[in-house]
Amino acid sequence: MLNEFLQLLGAAIWFILPAYVANAAPVVLGRGAPIDGGRRFTDGRPILGAGKTIRGFLAGLIAGSVVGVLQGAAAGQPCTYAMLGLLLALGALVGDLFGSFIKRRLNIPRGGAAPGLDQLGFIVFALLFASPLMLPSWEVILTILIITPPIHLTTNFASYKLGLKSKPY
Ligand code: CTP
Ligand code: MG
Repeated sequence: MLNEFLQLLGAAIWFILPAYVANAAPVVLGRGAPIDGGRRFTDGRPILGAGKTIRGFLAGLIAGSVVGVLQGAAAGQPCTYAMLGLLLALGALVGDLFGSFIKRRLNIPRGGAAPGLDQLGFIVFALLFASPLMLPSWEVILTILIITPPIHLTTNFASYKLGLKSKPY
């Protein structure tokens, strides 16, 4: 029982790791020009907001892809994992932008909390982007969806304590 649980946990983290790294890298490396260029949407609010930077996006894409390449080397399947890493990273980043777009439409300011969307939006997009190439079993997908919110909240709190983030969530 415990063995099966640990196996599932390991498979979930192994599969989704590029998305996690793509989501975390911008917190450390992102700054500078915003993706939306500071422009506003038709509702008068920012399209995405100043928290979504070009540098953060590229840093996340590169960092997540590097994880995929390393996984590929470790697993002896370089092409599949490189491609998977790129798709998961791109999906996570696009999902994060989508989340910010929705938050701004709901009048939630940059850095404001959107429970659920903040913790799972990027993961759902990562899985969607990966799906043409490969998806894990439904048990592994379910495990990913269950473990991601607590992991996201824990790492965000740690980043806040380390002074990398201004909000603890
Ligand atoms: N970040 C970035 N570029 C991105 C995504 C994130 O530079 N494409 C950086 C920003 O410094 C951002 C931090 O990572 O403040 C944390 O990311 P996130 O929590 O997604 O952004 P928020 O500031 O909370 O903004 P939002 O409300 O739009 O989610
Ligand atoms: Mg946030």
